[in-house]
Amino acid sequence: MKSESLPSSALAARASVRALTASKIRELYNEGLGRKEVLAFWVGEPDQATPDFIRQAGIDSIEAGEVFYTHNLGIPELREALARYISQLHTGIGPDEVAITSAGVNALMIASQLLVDPGDRVVEVVPLWPNLQEIPKILGAQVETAALRFSPSGWTLDIEELLGKLTPNTKALYLNSPNNPTGWTVTAEQQRAILEHCRKHGIWIFADDAYERLYFEQGGVAPSFLDIAEEGDRVISANTFSKSWLMTGWRLGWLVVPRGLVADLGKLIEYNTSCAPVFVQRAGIVALKEGEPIIARSLSRYRKARNFLVAELRKLERVEVAVPEGTMYAFIRIKGVDDSLAFCKKLVRETGLGLAPGSAFGPEGEGFVRWCFAASEERLADGVGRLKKALTA
Ligand SMILES: Cc1ncc(COP(=O)(O)O)c(C=O)c1O
Repeated sequence: MKSESLPSSALAARASVRALTASKIRELYNEGLGRKEVLAFWVGEPDQATPDFIRQAGIDSIEAGEVFYTHNLGIPELREALARYISQLHTGIGPDEVAITSAGVNALMIASQLLVDPGDRVVEVVPLWPNLQEIPKILGAQVETAALRFSPSGWTLDIEELLGKLTPNTKALYLNSPNNPTGWTVTAEQQRAILEHCRKHGIWIFADDAYERLYFEQGGVAPSFLDIAEEGDRVISANTFSKSWLMTGWRLGWLVVPRGLVADLGKLIEYNTSCAPVFVQRAGIVALKEGEPIIARSLSRYRKARNFLVAELRKLERVEVAVPEGTMYAFIRIKGVDDSLAFCKKLVRETGLGLAPGSAFGPEGEGFVRWCFAASEERLADGVGRLKKALTA
């Protein structure tokens, strides 16, 4: 098409898309591109590849010719396996309450498309993974935040403040727990108070449970709204195979939704992705059936890494850090830093250390950096050494 045939304004994306925040972690990554070797802790990803037995299930499925479209809501075997898995972890649910998605981020987008209209008001607990902050904005929602409070002894939620923001005009609460980037985890008691309040005002709860199995307390399973939700409650849980089973690149996730919404959810899946790849779903079934030792191993590795990193960081003068209760991230305050993006760019340029700027997780994260501790002790020690050098230079 000739460029003069369209007025330039016609080439612009929708206003709500233009207003989205570009990824600051990506900006930083570009900064490090010219360097030969970056000691990178900025990505939210396990440091180990998907185990062989899970990969093999995908390979076997492809070799068996499973390369065609399949059910919108997922193959029945995976929905059944997930219903069993969730029923063991939480409360009894049926396969007809589960839908398979193309990873966690897609689960959150589709769940939002299901319920959030332009102009709706939603509330989020922050700092928070940027994708979850932007998804409701893509749909034209107004996002209000309730901020966690930092102290070196732990991140805390002011429950009264949160409930005060959840008014009859609120469409949904987005709550990610264990939380990326802080590791803060909502307590069962707080969940009961939130659910009761949301029931009273007809507010949806979108629980982002991506890290529920990376929880360092109470037997390794974080408290879940699925433990307490009853028939008729407006509760949706989004989850993913990415972190628990070391499957980030496979793009497999799921939603648990009230039965009455499943048919409409199927339509949205049809018009977004049509279905998750069937061979990926086969790998998911094997992960669920045989993957518990993988989760136990990751949890034990990450717990050791967390304890090591926090102890080492606490030796540095300008650094404050709380012990994360879950996830694989430490969210670290660096005294004297008021532009975390500029600080992280300088850090990667001058020392080759890659950390994620706290401002990527919302203005409430300014002054902090996020460190993914899914890494060997040797790499973590190298990273702390580089940070120390940068802070004392
Ligand atoms: C809080 C949170 N939720 C959901 C996800 C979704 O992960 P994926 O899209 O890989 O399943 C992530 C990934 O980093 C995350 O940090």
